[in-house]
Amino acid sequence: MATKQIDTRTNHRINAQPRLHQRAPEIQSYGTVNHALPLELEEPVRLEMTEHLNQLLADTITLRDLYKKSHWQVAGPTFYQLHLLFDKHSSEQSELVDSIAERIQALGGVSLAMAADVAETTRIERPPRGREEVPVQLSRLIDGHQVIVRQVRILARRAAQLGDDGTNDLAVSEVLRTNELQTWFLSEHLVNMPLVKAEEPAVGTGAA
Ligand SMILES: [Fe+2]
Repeated sequence: MATKQIDTRTNHRINAQPRLHQRAPEIQSYGTVNHALPLELEEPVRLEMTEHLNQLLADTITLRDLYKKSHWQVAGPTFYQLHLLFDKHSSEQSELVDSIAERIQALGGVSLAMAADVAETTRIERPPRGREEVPVQLSRLIDGHQVIVRQVRILARRAAQLGDDGTNDLAVSEVLRTNELQTWFLSEHLVNMPLVKAEEPAVGTGAA
């Protein structure tokens, strides 16, 4: 009969068996920041910034997912271009999600991560599970951008006021600029433009 090996230094049993199904108390609660960080930013500042950033994170994750939903479910004659455009915007929003979440962690906070927590937090209107027509998809996405653009400007100004230049830079250079640009790309699809035949001037107008 084989005997179990004993580590003579620690007296622990050496065992190749993975230790599965482990649980333990959290190491940091949501809504808190680490006390001491060498960032020259006071704890109350980091607390306020991480709270704003988590709201922005929840909305950005939601908008990213709304883009994927639109990418999968789009229909009609503009299917191909919108299918590709929605996916491109989704990828760009994904990069913002990572930047915002990592900013929260860098400030000593705790990032939201899971879908259920995001759903409870976001201010973007929940769409139905089923498919919707293109103008509705575009309108929902633009509304989502509007929610983000509104709050990110407030966040940027507050960050500058509190001396958190890193958060201000992220808010303006990455989040605001990306959302403004994507809003423009979507909005141009909602202009009622003839596809084949230019609109003729109405009778009785034009040069005499
Ligand atoms: Fe895809």
